[in-house]
Amino acid sequence: MSVAIALDGPAGAGKSSIAKRAAKALDFIYVDTGALYRTIGLAATRKGVEPKPSDEVEKLLNEITVDLTFNDKGEQIVLLDGEDVSGLIRTPEASMMASKISAVPSVRAYLLDLQRNMAKSHNVIMDGRDIGTVVLPDANVKIFLTASPEARAQRRYKELCEKGMDVKYEDILNDVITRDYNDTHRQTAPLKPAEGCVMVDTTELDFEQSVEKIISVIKEHCRL
Ligand code: DC
Repeated sequence: MSVAIALDGPAGAGKSSIAKRAAKALDFIYVDTGALYRTIGLAATRKGVEPKPSDEVEKLLNEITVDLTFNDKGEQIVLLDGEDVSGLIRTPEASMMASKISAVPSVRAYLLDLQRNMAKSHNVIMDGRDIGTVVLPDANVKIFLTASPEARAQRRYKELCEKGMDVKYEDILNDVITRDYNDTHRQTAPLKPAEGCVMVDTTELDFEQSVEKIISVIKEHCRL
């Protein structure tokens, strides 16, 4: 039986970088489900499809293929119709589009099997918004990772500046607040702590401390 860790929480809580490191230390596969929503958002942007429930979105979902694969370093690659779009989905525009399109119920249904199949075949740390509540409600451990909006915006700002992007802290903070609102207020699978989850707040923790905390929670609950 494979082991599944559900890791949910708001945008910018550090889920992906923390989960990547923890997965490496535990020899698990790290699955970033946000990348899947971002990829569908990119497909919609390319085809000029509005991110709201419509026949056009249904048609788009019937026309595209989205796949997850891993390179030889164990990093996740996301493919849109066979094209590696892992880099293209990381802009602030792609973030906002992903937040909007992820509220469309048929988009969520479309990605459900893909996510569940990953957890059937591997030991996974799966990061998202509804992993503990919808995708893997029977996960061995469900963790809700959070931090204050300001701390999250500051971290994302630093990350984007380091990549050489010309961004303003206030814009990032507004994006974080808007995305939190979208993610927690949508009707389908809103972001909320799963029943029985372990809450981890990283506002006062640095990266190494956050990784240690997550690993200790996983070890404690899975008896690894
Ligand atoms: O984790 P991220 O920032 O890459 O996610 C992009 C968007 O996708 C985010 O606004 C919420 C949405 N998302 C979701 O609704 N469910 C998930 N399991 C993962 C992400």
